Amino acid sequence: MKLFDPISCTVTKNGEMLTNATGRYRKALSDLRGLYADREAFAGREKTEGDRVVYEVAEFRPSDRAGDMIFGVTRMVPGKIGDEFFMTRGHIHRKADRPEIYFGQEGHGVMLMESPEGEIRVEEIGPQRICYVPPYWIHRSVNVGEKELTMLFAYPADSGQNYDIIDKSGGMAARIVDDGTGGWRAVANLDYRRRSKVDVTRALAEQ
Ligand SMILES: [Fe+2]
Repeated sequence: MKLFDPISCTVTKNGEMLTNATGRYRKALSDLRGLYADREAFAGREKTEGDRVVYEVAEFRPSDRAGDMIFGVTRMVPGKIGDEFFMTRGHIHRKADRPEIYFGQEGHGVMLMESPEGEIRVEEIGPQRICYVPPYWIHRSVNVGEKELTMLFAYPADSGQNYDIIDKSGGMAARIVDDGTGGWRAVANLDYRRRSKVDVTRALAEQ
C-alpha cells in the first residue's frame, strides 16, 4: 500500500490562506443568487458588486477515501443583503452520517444548523471556539460581525456535499438577520417548505 506523505500547512493572513493547499474556490455575490430573502436588494447589489468575492476556501484534500480527512480554511467578508448577513450556500454531507468541526480563527460568526426534520440550532463562532456539526445536520456559516470571518474546518474525506437539500426546501428554516442593536437574531424563513418524510428518509440514507 502506498502511504501518503505527512504534511504540515500554515494558516496565513494573506490571499494564500493555507500553505500547501491542494484546492481553492471562491464564491462571488452573483453565485449566491436566490439565497437571500430580499430579492430586490440582492438584484441591486448584484448589478454593482456581482463579481465581488463573498467567501473563499483553501483546502488540503489528500484523497477522497473513507477514513481520510479533508481540512482547510474558509474566509468570508462582512456584509448584508437587506438585514440578512452574508452566508455560505450551506449543505448536508452526501454521506449524511459524516460530521465536521469548525475552529474559529478571526471575526464573529454563527453556524446555522438544521436537522432534516427542520429543527434549527445556532452556535456562535469566534477565535478559539470550536463548533461541532454532528452527523445528519445541514450546516451553513454566517458572518454576523464587522470584520472578516476566518475558520478552519475538517471533515471525513468521503463526506461529499449535497446542496440540493437546501434548494428544494426554499432555503433553511431560519434566516440570520441584524437585530438592529449590533447583534444578530434568527427569524423564520418565509420561503421555507418543510421536507416530506420521504425526502427526510432519502437525505439520511444517501451514500
Ligand atoms: Fe460540511
